[in-house]
Amino acid sequence: MPHLFPLPLVERLRTARHLVVFSGAGMSAESGVPTFRDAQTGLWARYDPTELASPEAFRRHPKRVWDWYAWRRELVRRARPNPGHEAVARLERWVPQVTVVTQNVDGLHQQAGSRRVIELHGNLHRTVCAQCRRVVPPEAWGPPGPEGVPRCPACGGLLRPDVVWFGEGLPQDAWQAAVRAAQRADVMLVVGTSGLVQPAASLPVMAKEAGAYLVEVNPRPSALSPLMDHTLRGPAGQVLPALVQAVWGTDQGFSKYE
Ligand code: OAD
Repeated sequence: MPHLFPLPLVERLRTARHLVVFSGAGMSAESGVPTFRDAQTGLWARYDPTELASPEAFRRHPKRVWDWYAWRRELVRRARPNPGHEAVARLERWVPQVTVVTQNVDGLHQQAGSRRVIELHGNLHRTVCAQCRRVVPPEAWGPPGPEGVPRCPACGGLLRPDVVWFGEGLPQDAWQAAVRAAQRADVMLVVGTSGLVQPAASLPVMAKEAGAYLVEVNPRPSALSPLMDHTLRGPAGQVLPALVQAVWGTDQGFSKYE
């Protein structure tokens, strides 16, 4: 049977000591969570990010922003990890150190069982006070004021999702941990990201400069494709299980992702 994935790729993975999975919205696409920039289906094809995902938007129209995130929260609550997330979680059986660095805010990597997940852009399920930055669980949300948005029980500020908006900085400890992981990685799997949002998109560059072998999993080319040592053109939910099977499984891992 022909070998599915090229031998150098299989060998790199089999001998990896520190593997970093750097994921974006495409990772969760097969869980039914829309991406941002895919034509037709991406959220930014239907909604204007400056109206929904910036501190100014929240100041101008707090209820619109709150309701949009409430809709996304509900959508993500119904979503389940797909075979791609599950394959990533299984990597921990074989690779001594696996770090997932994700731009996703849906928590699906953790749900699939990945133990070390660095969330660069926050988490949709966590709500914080826009004023005092306290994390406030749903049962403690104060009644909405005239703006229609629940308030902080401690200081009365408006509550907001704990996600990074355009114009905001990344959580510093998450960013620093991600940089350290990128610089230590011997292989980085770059999955389902357009590579257009900084500073996150500079992590594969840092990993490459530090000597990592870079592999992209994406049905389409991305801004990061030129950097790759190898590209696997296909959906994460199909490519990742096939890859894991080919590298560590017992069968010969035949599939069409040559
Ligand atoms: P994008 O929507 O920019 O890119 C999604 C990528 O996933 C594209 O390259 C698609 O080709 C690819 N894709 C689609 N379906 C896929 C599948 N089944 N398997 C693998 N790949 C697939 O999403 P991100 O790169 O994550 O920021 O966007 C980065 C940031 O921009 C997000 O974190 C978000 C957004 O504004 C914040 O919320 C701060």
